[in-house]
Amino acid sequence: MIAKIKELIEEVEKFKASTTDEIEEFRIKYLSKKGGLVTEFFSEFKNVPKEEKKEFGQILNKLKDDVSDKVNYLKQILKSKDVIDTSADLSLPGSSYKIGSRHPISITRNEIVDIFTRLGFVISEGPEIEDDRHVFSALNFPPEHPARDMQDTFFIEKNPDILLRTHTSSVQVRVMDNQKPPIRTLSPGRVFRNEAISARAHCIFHQIEGLYIDKDVSFADLKQTLLYFAKEMFGEKTKIRLRPSYFPFTEPSAEMDISCSLCGGKGCNVCKYTGWLEILGCGMVDPNVLESNGIDSNIYTGYAFGMGIERIAMLKFGIKDLRLYFENDLRFLSQFH
Ligand code: DAH
Repeated sequence: MIAKIKELIEEVEKFKASTTDEIEEFRIKYLSKKGGLVTEFFSEFKNVPKEEKKEFGQILNKLKDDVSDKVNYLKQILKSKDVIDTSADLSLPGSSYKIGSRHPISITRNEIVDIFTRLGFVISEGPEIEDDRHVFSALNFPPEHPARDMQDTFFIEKNPDILLRTHTSSVQVRVMDNQKPPIRTLSPGRVFRNEAISARAHCIFHQIEGLYIDKDVSFADLKQTLLYFAKEMFGEKTKIRLRPSYFPFTEPSAEMDISCSLCGGKGCNVCKYTGWLEILGCGMVDPNVLESNGIDSNIYTGYAFGMGIERIAMLKFGIKDLRLYFENDLRFLSQFH
């Protein structure tokens, strides 16, 4: 009987099948509970002489295992053939990967940075967590200024004050701390204000600060630089106007409007029928600021400007709600290239 089983083991090894029916037939022939060859050999077990029982058992178990291994193997082969033969159309083009796109804030920031680097400005960055000196006192904010209030500023610690910077003007101070004029620098970054979130305000946003300090820098230089920027950013036909304003760190101070890029200055609902859009604050660096940062205001003058990147991106791309920038909705983000 042992010799017969060995023969069957060889037979199993050689067996080939090309359909599931053939495999099933093969399985039944050996393993069926009723009349399967393996089952029948097992029922012979009691008649096997004692001294052969061990070898008989081992060889029969091997036959049983070989059969089930073979069945699994053949099924596997057939399955993979099925996939190739029936469902794959090898002439189809490959599936493409989705490539991400830049965030509109990054696109706008890069464009602004590009324009000013062409004029010789270099990038400088400062920390988002700042102290009072860099955000307020070295920028000539009087002690009772409302921006120093908890309602406008996120404080981390009080006395000495550690806070989240409310504007990138703080980087002006960092640069003046470390460099002597001539200074021509641009500082993009995130800023934080304690504001209720709405379509028009957010507690986190982005600004770009510009600072130019040298001998004989005048308001005319500031105006010409900003005109160049406006034309590069919004088109050759763009006009600018400067309105008197107030910032503690500049004197005189101004706010700059551009002619409405949507209606060309005729008046529409974006410019509220004025023909003008406000885009930045600017001015001549207050001599107090130069002096409190160790720069002799009798020798040097300078100008500064600061703008919100969200605002510029809104005008460029026609975005109406600030919150969209921070919601990570791919339907929004994938529209910008
Ligand atoms: N820091 C101002 C703000 O957050 C913007 C600004 C205005 C920056 C005038 C300047 C400037 O450098 O000269 O509203």
